[in-house]
Amino acid sequence: AKVHYHDFILTETNFTRLCSSKSMLVVNESLPGPVIRVTKGDTVYVNVHNQGYYGVTIHWHGVHQPRNPWSDGPEYITQCPIESGSNFTYEIIFSDEEGTLWWHAHSDWTRAGVHGAIVVLPNKETGFPFPEPDGEEILVLGSWYVGDVNEEVAEDLENGADTPRSDSYTINGQPGDFCECSKEGTYRWQVDYGKTYLLRLVNAAMNAELYFAIAQHNLTVVGLDGSYVKPVITGFVMISPGQTMDMLVTANQPLGRYYMAARQYDSARYDVTDYDKTNTTAILEYRGNYTPSADPIFPSTLPTYEDFVPALSFTSRLRSLANHDHPVNVPKNITTRMYITASMNTITFDYEGTTKSGLASSLNNVSWINPSTDVLLAYYRNMSGIYTPDFPEYPPLLFNFTADEVPDYTTTTIQGTKVKMFDYNEEVEIVFQGTNVFDASEDHPMHLHGYTFYVVGSGYGNFDNVTDPEGYNLVDPPKMNTVSLPKKGWAALRFKASNPGVWLWHCHLDRHLSWGMDTVFIVKNGGTPETSIREPPPNMPPCSSSAIR
Ligand code: C2O
Ligand code: CU
Repeated sequence: AKVHYHDFILTETNFTRLCSSKSMLVVNESLPGPVIRVTKGDTVYVNVHNQGYYGVTIHWHGVHQPRNPWSDGPEYITQCPIESGSNFTYEIIFSDEEGTLWWHAHSDWTRAGVHGAIVVLPNKETGFPFPEPDGEEILVLGSWYVGDVNEEVAEDLENGADTPRSDSYTINGQPGDFCECSKEGTYRWQVDYGKTYLLRLVNAAMNAELYFAIAQHNLTVVGLDGSYVKPVITGFVMISPGQTMDMLVTANQPLGRYYMAARQYDSARYDVTDYDKTNTTAILEYRGNYTPSADPIFPSTLPTYEDFVPALSFTSRLRSLANHDHPVNVPKNITTRMYITASMNTITFDYEGTTKSGLASSLNNVSWINPSTDVLLAYYRNMSGIYTPDFPEYPPLLFNFTADEVPDYTTTTIQGTKVKMFDYNEEVEIVFQGTNVFDASEDHPMHLHGYTFYVVGSGYGNFDNVTDPEGYNLVDPPKMNTVSLPKKGWAALRFKASNPGVWLWHCHLDRHLSWGMDTVFIVKNGGTPETSIREPPPNMPPCSSSAIR
């Protein structure tokens, strides 16, 4: 195994998109940021130098970080921010992940510009579980905001107002041909006829699940969230924010230019009229001698904006590869079962002496509040008063969560810093239930730090604890770090709590994360040094008193 070193220099850098310029926090002056490329089992040290205005942390999304929560990154969960003018070195330990993952800032909404791909190559001995591709391409889907999104969001949260979705989506930092004055920068991928490429797709968008397709080219999905899946041949994919997908693309069509397009899939069905920038495009371009047509061909296989049926039907085709080199170990002796509702709510809060009401999100009717000292430090050093170990295993009331009219008394959520404790090696099953509380149902891409989990089932409506478990896939369920909890539906997942540490669970829509749709799992030590959290590095960023909501 090798050791790699990177320097990430965070600066405010100027960008022009959608006919307007602004400065935005990015890494090494690039959007998306640098690619981290490793072989399975390697270790990477990333020295993050913060030369911007905001305190920042960085998360290595999907990397398990065995016993090493100190370098996981979420602000006020495993560390305090790297303040402007200072630096911190992360130690990223790659154990069993293989495929594409990504990194992103985990402080307020700075991840809009601070993100990039991680490529984990297989060992030479094992290789890919498919013929070695002729080439590789990385496409990072993102969100563009014309203004300063951190300022906007801070103001919205103070006023209890709705937070912005985005002004356009992007592919490798570019909105594409359909957006005003952005055409010149449209991203191009050049291919040679007859070759097969490994396309690595990352959804780094802030608030949207996306459909993605390439005109006239099939996609063969072979990997998801850093694990291999049985090949799925499809005309489009649905990718949730946080997810990463590997697919094979063969350049077997007539020489020409083809649009690659991502389109917002809006499970909440907001009013489309004030928000019509749903498509982002890039161009797949064959090398060779031909006269290109005026406009590239647009993918006819891309589902429409409001069509939520293809999302779950695509996702339910995914199965773990489950072969000798990549075995499946679904926990079967469940010791903790949880049933967690994800809801949109209201809160009242005090702002500079006045009582205001605003939007909130909750898990089991608890809306998360960040502490002023990170949970990890408080847990490790036995500090009291930072969090309470009483996150509920069940929602406070069981009723028809997906009804059109959900009783009004659940709209107000309680706020707290409530964590769930697990013993080492517990076998855990969690059923997430999407609700229609507040008449606001939508998909929630739920992400767990420090782990991947098997998604053993999912469906629409209320979870039925008798019939639904009968349909669980315990043979080859897909392994993910982010699962799309369907709108007014459920998703069941299992994992073994074999990684001691402090791990964040949250919805990967930043609007919902900001409103409190998160909680923390603490997995206790196993009793030996090899099953315990490692020593903290000597220079963790100090926690000032500047706690934010
Ligand atoms: Cu992509 Cu909390 O993470
Ligand atoms: Cu959500």
